Amino acid sequence: MNKIVLLTLVLSSLLLGESEIETCKKCHPLIVDEFENSMHRKSSIYDDEIHKAVWDMHPAKAKDNYVCADCHTPNAKNEQEAKKGITCSSCHTIKDIEKHASVNKNIYNKDAKTFYSAEAGRESEKVIYKKESSWFGLNKTTVGSPYHDIDYTNKNYYTGEVCMGCHSHRQNKDEFMICKTSKEGAQNEQENCITCHMPKVDGTATTIRETKQHSYHGFPGARKDPQMLSKYVELDFKKSSDGFEITINNKAPHDLMLHPLRVVELRVNLVKDKKVTPLKSNSFVKVIGNKEGPSMPWLANRVIVDTMLKANEKREISYSDKVESKDKVEVQLGYYIVNPKALKKLNLEKNKDAKSFTVLKQERFIVE
Ligand code: HEC
Ligand code: HEC
Ligand code: HEC
Ligand code: HEC
Ligand code: HEC
Repeated sequence: MNKIVLLTLVLSSLLLGESEIETCKKCHPLIVDEFENSMHRKSSIYDDEIHKAVWDMHPAKAKDNYVCADCHTPNAKNEQEAKKGITCSSCHTIKDIEKHASVNKNIYNKDAKTFYSAEAGRESEKVIYKKESSWFGLNKTTVGSPYHDIDYTNKNYYTGEVCMGCHSHRQNKDEFMICKTSKEGAQNEQENCITCHMPKVDGTATTIRETKQHSYHGFPGARKDPQMLSKYVELDFKKSSDGFEITINNKAPHDLMLHPLRVVELRVNLVKDKKVTPLKSNSFVKVIGNKEGPSMPWLANRVIVDTMLKANEKREISYSDKVESKDKVEVQLGYYIVNPKALKKLNLEKNKDAKSFTVLKQERFIVE
């Protein structure tokens, strides 16, 4: 696209009071389209019914004190802004992460027009668009963005640390840890939150400077595009003396599921000739609660049961069902978004997403 036309578009969009994301879309259309469908975009009570269901039960709701804002609608000043959920600048202006025992805090850059980003080979660059150059001089610029400056020097964008202001952990008022993502996933540049959850996919990052690939902004996870992560989970089969063993290899550097609402399930079918027999399934959960049993996170003070697949764990599950040569064993590892036992309490019995069982990985083994 002609750059003058483009700049005029951008300036006019600013005058028209277009939203941030509509402006970004002019030059980053693929990234914005991916983002529109992500759980970051849909993190508010207006777009995530599961989040809303839990919020509706929260004691702070009566006081209209939306304590979830720092992570679910950061920097939103009013309802209209809150409807946008997490925005492009909620991440790209995070300067640093302040560590606290109860919950970390994002420190935002005061200059809202400098975006931090990461790109191999440019770790020491700050790309400042020179505002003093003439409008027509813009046409010659091939480096930098006419809309914003870019700072490639922030290490947090190379290691995944930028994600840890919101994702690291959270304690409730009783200092009980209600959720935690181990920091091992945000330590190095080779493999981290970003390399797994923002993989490189085909298509240009900007319309102005063509690139073959860009970092996927749909943020695959439990709710969206989980198939993009299935390669990080392996299933294996081994015959044993009195049956067989299935091994689940979780290659993620954090518990396979992180939110206490989730339930992971291993389903196995034994196929002899054409006869299919479902065997006993196995569930993996982390349930939190108090002395009365499972509870909402703000009332919890203990772990009731924790069988969740741990970071980088290989878990062996034994079956005492006899298998013979040529039998087939079908194995499925999947999960429920909301623990079926909690659906009623949360009034989510009619919510399709909450009830659905998503298959993350499946394999079919033929007994030798
Ligand atoms: C007028 C076009 C234009 C607009 C509008 C625009 N950008 Fe950019 N942006 C660019 C260009 C061009 C680059 C690439 C610069 C380079 O590679 O030197 C870029 C690069 C970036 C980068 C760093 C990319 C990298 O290489 O790692 C980020 C982050 C970014 N833009 C975010 C945004 C956000 C967020 C918005 C909306 C608030 C936005 N941009 C709006 C043109 C634009
Ligand atoms: C410290 C940041 C932080 C705060 C504060 C926070 N959340 Fe979250 N929340 C997250 C993150 C990160 C996720 C995604 C975790 C995951 O998918 O495992 C999440 C996910 C959720 C989910 C699961 C949504 C889904 O897609 O199934 C619910 C429900 C939820 N939060 C409720 C709340 C409520 C209610 C509050 C306020 C009382 C709150 N959260 C406050 C960070 C936070
Ligand atoms: C080696 C790849 C890998 C790395 C590194 C990684 N993850 Fe994951 N992540 C996974 C897999 C696999 C899953 C489970 C599949 C799914 O949720 O679709 C997952 C799931 C998640 C979920 C959804 C969990 C839930 O209960 O809803 C969140 C949130 C998440 N990861 C955040 C992070 C953060 C933050 C980091 C960095 C500290 C990180 N991940 C590092 C592979 C990875
Ligand atoms: C949850 C945090 C987060 C949000 C929200 C986010 N980004 Fe990014 N973005 C990143 C990170 C981290 C990178 C660096 C990824 C890498 O190493 O390639 C990145 C990279 C980019 C790049 C460079 C991509 C490339 O492949 O070179 C552009 C452009 C960009 N983002 C634009 C946007 C726009 C536009 C939005 C809003 C629609 C947005 N981002 C929302 C975290 C985020
Ligand atoms: C400003 C806070 C914030 C930051 C920064 C942030 N996240 Fe999130 N993230 C959330 C919240 C809140 C949710 C849950 C949204 C929901 O389900 O309602 C979430 C959900 C997710 C999910 C689950 C998506 C799904 O389909 O279940 C993944 C994966 C994820 N984030 C990865 C990342 C990565 C990678 C980064 C760093 C590049 C990052 N996040 C930075 C707040 C944040």
